[in-house]
Amino acid sequence: MTIHHLSKSPSILNTFISEIRDHKIQKDPLRFRRNIERIGEILGYELSKELASKTVEVITPLGTKKIAVPTKELVLCSILRAGLPLHQGLLNYFDTAENAFIAAYRHHPNKDAAFDIVVEYFAAPALEDKILLLADPMLATGQSLVAVHKAIKKQGIPKEIHIVVVIASQEGIHFIEKHFPKNTHLWIAAIDPTLNEKGYIIPGLGDAGDLAFGTKL
Ligand code: URA
Repeated sequence: MTIHHLSKSPSILNTFISEIRDHKIQKDPLRFRRNIERIGEILGYELSKELASKTVEVITPLGTKKIAVPTKELVLCSILRAGLPLHQGLLNYFDTAENAFIAAYRHHPNKDAAFDIVVEYFAAPALEDKILLLADPMLATGQSLVAVHKAIKKQGIPKEIHIVVVIASQEGIHFIEKHFPKNTHLWIAAIDPTLNEKGYIIPGLGDAGDLAFGTKL
């Protein structure tokens, strides 16, 4: 697996990351969603450099120009619901991509911190031999992404997977490395050291789904 950690060097990306983490600024859901979307745009731009490209000849009003452009044959798959703003950011740049959505949530059978992942709704085009971008803003334990990958494989084996994440824990990264194919790319805006006893990333930002869309029962 190739890991790309984008906030290692300071850039405007870090401004957006600091705003989604900030306990005051993150309370504005419109700004929170838009910042996640902007982070998705930056991650999308960076990963576009790794995609296969082809040269097209463009006719301008005054001549022609050959330009190397990345492939447009992508499927964007997001995990509902927290993945939606990240999905939108990727879709802003990969505007002709096909789209897939999958619902995965933590189920606490004993009402304590222990949980398993339930995968439910899944709507996707054929995935066989396609380039799959898998968007999930928070890579905490990595269990949701692995459960989603297992479900997705029933719809075909992608030739390449790019996992797109806003904040990842070290533990989540190791788990993903163990369970995804070797040619997977993991695109991460920021890496945090630990998880708390409930499986939340520390310092992280809290619950990305709640911040974007409101609390749930
Ligand atoms: N999901 C979140 O929204 N936040 C975390 O810290 C972990 C999982």
